[in-house]
Amino acid sequence: MMMKIAITGKGGVGKTTFSAMLSRLYAEEGYSVLAVDADPDANLALALGFPQELISEIVPISDMKNLVAERTGSTPGSFGTMFKMNPKVSDIPEKYCKEYNGVKVLTMGTVDTGGSGCVCPEHVLLKMLTSHLILGNKDVVVMDMEAGIEHLGRGTAKSVDAFIVVVEPGERSLQTYRKVKKLADDIGVDKVYVVGNKIRDKKDETFILKHVEEDKCLGFIHYSSQVVDSDRSNLSPFDGNDQTKEEVLHISKNLKGVL
Ligand SMILES: Nc1ncnc2c1ncn2[C@@H]1O[C@H](COP(=O)(O)OP(=O)(O)O)[C@@H](O)[C@H]1O
Ligand SMILES: [Mg+2]
Repeated sequence: MMMKIAITGKGGVGKTTFSAMLSRLYAEEGYSVLAVDADPDANLALALGFPQELISEIVPISDMKNLVAERTGSTPGSFGTMFKMNPKVSDIPEKYCKEYNGVKVLTMGTVDTGGSGCVCPEHVLLKMLTSHLILGNKDVVVMDMEAGIEHLGRGTAKSVDAFIVVVEPGERSLQTYRKVKKLADDIGVDKVYVVGNKIRDKKDETFILKHVEEDKCLGFIHYSSQVVDSDRSNLSPFDGNDQTKEEVLHISKNLKGVL
């Protein structure tokens, strides 16, 4: 079984929480899981339960100046010079990921694009790496992304098995869902699903189902004080939180059903 899953949604809805729980669940089921932190505001390793010492060793790929220079043939810090548009990336995931609790994490980092349309060596390397991860033959790839899918190329987006947009019972996160769905429609991708998070009661579920077709909704995760507490104590929401774990398990079963 190969699964490439991309998690997106408005900031703060619970993308990282859900990505971490899904990754831990797949690892527990025996899959080899690569969790990709593709959000510039990177904190997936923390939600996966990585200890501080290991987190402090993580260097985002975009910050590896020598690697970027070596692979793209560019000079660090220089702009406007020539560099390779198809750098080699195949060995990067294994070499630069960190593993804990059976989950490998790869932190992409961020690129100061300095306005739209900028093409810099870091950007080219991250883009190549992203398509390699999605098109490659890894077991399970869970990608914790920032809101939106516009930075994925059409071919890459088409190879994602499922885009999961995390929403909460509010108009703003549903607006983000509609935006993502529209972008996906435009490039011919129809595998866009929803997970409703921070649910308090039936009314919250009904609200979400008013805006999302039932067959696109993979399930709901209730608002959990244990999730809040785990964030406060730098622990993984996956540990010691049986109810949320059960809900994520249910969602993963529904996901398998649509793949
Ligand atoms: N089901 C939930 N119940 C309670 N709090 C949650 C839940 N899911 C996420 N949170 C909290 O919401 C905040 C944002 O979650 P996070 O996963 O970092 O969102 P994102 O990655 O989308 O920005 C965190 O403080 C997290 O602990
Ligand atoms: Mg996040």
